[in-house]
Amino acid sequence: MVYLDHAATSWPKPPEVAAAMMDALQNSGANAGRGNHSLAVGTGRVLVRARSMLSELFGVTNSQDIAFTHNTTMGLNMAIRGTLQPGDHVISTMTEHNSVRRPLEYLRNKIGIEVDYLQVNRKGQVDLRKLEQAFRPNTRMVICNHSSNLLGSVLPVGQIGDIAKSRGALFLVDAAQSAGSLEIDVKRMNIDLLAFPGHKGLLGPQGTGGLYISPHLDLEPLLFGGTGSQSENSMQPNVRPDRYEAGTQNAVGIAGLLAGLKVIRNLGVQNIHHQEWLQTQQMIEGLSDIPGLRLLGPELGEIRTGIVSFVIEGEDSAAIAHCLDREYNIAVRAGMHCTPLAHQSADTLESGAVRVSVGVSTTEADIQRLLDAMRERYGRGSRQ
Ligand code: ALA
Repeated sequence: MVYLDHAATSWPKPPEVAAAMMDALQNSGANAGRGNHSLAVGTGRVLVRARSMLSELFGVTNSQDIAFTHNTTMGLNMAIRGTLQPGDHVISTMTEHNSVRRPLEYLRNKIGIEVDYLQVNRKGQVDLRKLEQAFRPNTRMVICNHSSNLLGSVLPVGQIGDIAKSRGALFLVDAAQSAGSLEIDVKRMNIDLLAFPGHKGLLGPQGTGGLYISPHLDLEPLLFGGTGSQSENSMQPNVRPDRYEAGTQNAVGIAGLLAGLKVIRNLGVQNIHHQEWLQTQQMIEGLSDIPGLRLLGPELGEIRTGIVSFVIEGEDSAAIAHCLDREYNIAVRAGMHCTPLAHQSADTLESGAVRVSVGVSTTEADIQRLLDAMRERYGRGSRQ
């Protein structure tokens, strides 16, 4: 199989990830923070190391400001629902995933927050002057993705963070498509809250992720319960990360994430981004020959993450993905990608699109296989 659906989850994982998880299951599978026996302490150490590597990666000073989550969606829900109050105003964008939009719309209906989704152009770019103009006296938060999961476009989070800070608003970034493949520095970019997956660019298993919470922010927890600390206290402890990590953590998954983080550190985020960018350029050049094919997002030569989406006039996107899977053994994702607003901006709300996404394990030969299949099936002379 040629796997080109890394934006959904990276696969295959490096062998080190599976080995670390197997080792955790077989040799150190106790519950971190519950009990002082050496096995529990050993599991705790894995969590500490993973937290510390995440801090290094995202420019976080105190690793206790990172809470583990099950995925990006959970981190985004914690950030959004733990902050916003009735009457607050939020500025977001038309390229957001439903993991941002749905909690916002829930709060709009439930407690009466106000939300503006900034228009983006065809390439997925936001006009920063429009952002400036969208602020109101009650604007509490700016929320945007670092990279669109449909378009692969990259938002200038550093500039957006500067603007949010100068207007006294909190800044929440959805790093679902950028963690591990674009540089992120929460201090330099004025990011107050950063939600990220463990199972995409960081190469860990599904069921892992995290949320960075600025030390200046008193975020209300989403979940309450056991933390293994201050058990006599009926209130959720204030100490981080316990305050945000009620219940047993996914220690086996986090052991895998730690192994994935080591791979990322050895490869280097900039090198990963460069490799993925070259592969998207190879793809864009190759797909440009297909009659009726329209590429979405940034153009050839422009910055993007490892995502290339397209539509072909007169062809059903789901049928293209199905054909690639069944006839060529190539995995891509078609449909709405949980981001109807981005599809609306790209004028693909009716048709959906085919999304091809690369990752650390993708090779030039994989891209060539996709291009050969596309030419054979949809190229000039292939269709009646
Ligand atoms: N959010 C993931 C995607 O875009 C699952 O496919």
